[in-house]
Amino acid sequence: MKSFLMIYLVLCLNISYNLFSKKPIQESLIDGQEIYNDFCAQCHLEDGKGVEGIYPPLAKSDFLNDINQTISSIKYGLKGPIIVNGKEYNSIMVSQGLDDEEISDVVNYILNSWGNSSKELITEEIVTSVKK
Ligand code: HEC
Repeated sequence: MKSFLMIYLVLCLNISYNLFSKKPIQESLIDGQEIYNDFCAQCHLEDGKGVEGIYPPLAKSDFLNDINQTISSIKYGLKGPIIVNGKEYNSIMVSQGLDDEEISDVVNYILNSWGNSSKELITEEIVTSVKK
């Protein structure tokens, strides 16, 4: 009886692990870098420093402290005045048309590049849950 229960438990754990397992961070960062270079680097530049007064920086950007706001701006676009590291930007970024998994990858990439670091792994599910 006991061993039957053990096998049952292991099976359940295994199934739930497969159902809920996340894309590993290393894989997400590699995909995120590719997406960044294709869709973001033309404005925010490969080193994430942007162009002062025109394209705000992502490297060491205090805007990224609010993860919800970060995801929302990439998912839906961003318009109007914002302050990034004490400098005002009053422009428009249109949505780049990425799907939720691609957004999670690019957010993991920008949160962990150019000296940025984040403990939180952004999953596709988190991106899906972010509303405008
Ligand atoms: C055509 C130029 C352009 C492209 C391409 C672009 N952005 Fe932006 N981005 C902007 C501008 C301009 C703003 C500021 C908008 C405002 O003033 O409200 C901005 C703001 C941001 C912000 C918030 C401010 C900050 O610097 O922290 C984030 C985060 C961001 N962009 C990430 C991305 C990511 C990720 C991509 C690629 C998927 C991307 N952007 C592609 C121009 C661009």
